[in-house]
Amino acid sequence: MSRRYPLARVGIIGGGQLARMMLPAAAQLGCEVVVLDPTPASPAGQLASKEIVGGFDDPQALRELAQQCSVTTFDIETIATNPLRELAAEGHAIVPAPELLATIQDKLLQKRLLATAGIPTADFVELHDPDPQRMIGFGLPLVQKAQRGGYDGRGVAVFTDVIVEERVLQVPSLLERFVDFRCELAVMVARSHAGETRAFPVVEMVFDHRANVLDFLVAPARIDSELALSAQQLAERTVTAMSGVGVFGVELFLTRSGELLVNEVAPRTHNSGHWTIEACRTSQFEQHLRAILGLPLGDPTQHSPAVMLNLLGEPGAAGAVLIEGLDAALALPGVSVHLYGKQSVRPYRKMGHVTVTAPDLETALAIAQEVKGLLRITGTEQP
Ligand SMILES: Nc1ncnc2c1ncn2[C@@H]1O[C@H](COP(=O)(O)OP(=O)(O)OP(=O)(O)O)[C@@H](O)[C@H]1O
Ligand SMILES: [Mg+2]
Repeated sequence: MSRRYPLARVGIIGGGQLARMMLPAAAQLGCEVVVLDPTPASPAGQLASKEIVGGFDDPQALRELAQQCSVTTFDIETIATNPLRELAAEGHAIVPAPELLATIQDKLLQKRLLATAGIPTADFVELHDPDPQRMIGFGLPLVQKAQRGGYDGRGVAVFTDVIVEERVLQVPSLLERFVDFRCELAVMVARSHAGETRAFPVVEMVFDHRANVLDFLVAPARIDSELALSAQQLAERTVTAMSGVGVFGVELFLTRSGELLVNEVAPRTHNSGHWTIEACRTSQFEQHLRAILGLPLGDPTQHSPAVMLNLLGEPGAAGAVLIEGLDAALALPGVSVHLYGKQSVRPYRKMGHVTVTAPDLETALAIAQEVKGLLRITGTEQP
């Protein structure tokens, strides 16, 4: 079979770091990329063949993108799905499917899909009108989650032994059993149009609880191999239950009793897959392109232990970006620094990440600790 060059013109809704990191993989595979983002010179827009400036809820901008591209995908979930459904109905290839995006956007619908498919997940109920009495009735400890629009922990409220009324989210929500977890795991899964799945190795996520953002990630997860295999199989089963095509991030809890529960699914490349660029035969970004373009899925085998840490804006940081300690960090062995091209810094904003690869995980962890002590993202404006 022969393919015409360029292989495809790929549209990406969202010009953030995920789209930015997909660009080298797209170039390698002989694809052009058009990015849609509301901000001119977005992280990916700076490097793409073309950038359309427009909102994720702007039907005209979404149409313009889909019309210019042979396949359209996204790096963000907050997109108006009705215009996408219309475009798909007209025959434009939008992958993953807009219907699935709509389901995932709504945490209640997403949880129902998981439960219906028999995927283990924390028990939950709908809470349309936030009512402390009903919350108490559900039983503590619990987690209240906004049905829509939450990310990076915004839209998640944990109540341990008392319902503090000021902390109750005043939006349609769901209540979930609080999971007493040993650790949080994630598995990136690719699924093809034909339904073939490939899972990357399981990773362990450690969160920065000041900001609810992933702090660092250990690959592979420090769990026994049987459990790791179960986690991969569960993640593959989850994406199959969703009939997803592309790369998906499946977030899991490992409970103290050794049970695996699916927390949530991201229908896109994910922060917990960045390490695959340096440490796997195929990166999550190349894998996503392969999946959506109908190319054979790549080999996700890990060839090096890896630790990844996010570079977040320091508390109080503002203005243009200053990177402290970059030279010292880059002088360490196995350190890859990724900067996302964001023009200004805010506290806890994801400005970049570092992946450390080493012959063994202990060394990678030690070097990552050292990097964490060296690198600081601050700004030119003093608060
Ligand atoms: N049922 C639960 N029990 C205990 N902790 C939970 C539960 N649900 C969520 N959490 C904690 O809150 C964090 C954020 O929750 P979740 O992933 O659902 O929200 P999000 O804001 O959509 O996600 P992200 O941070 O991935 O954008 C989880 O990573 C976990 O640490
Ligand atoms: Mg999450």
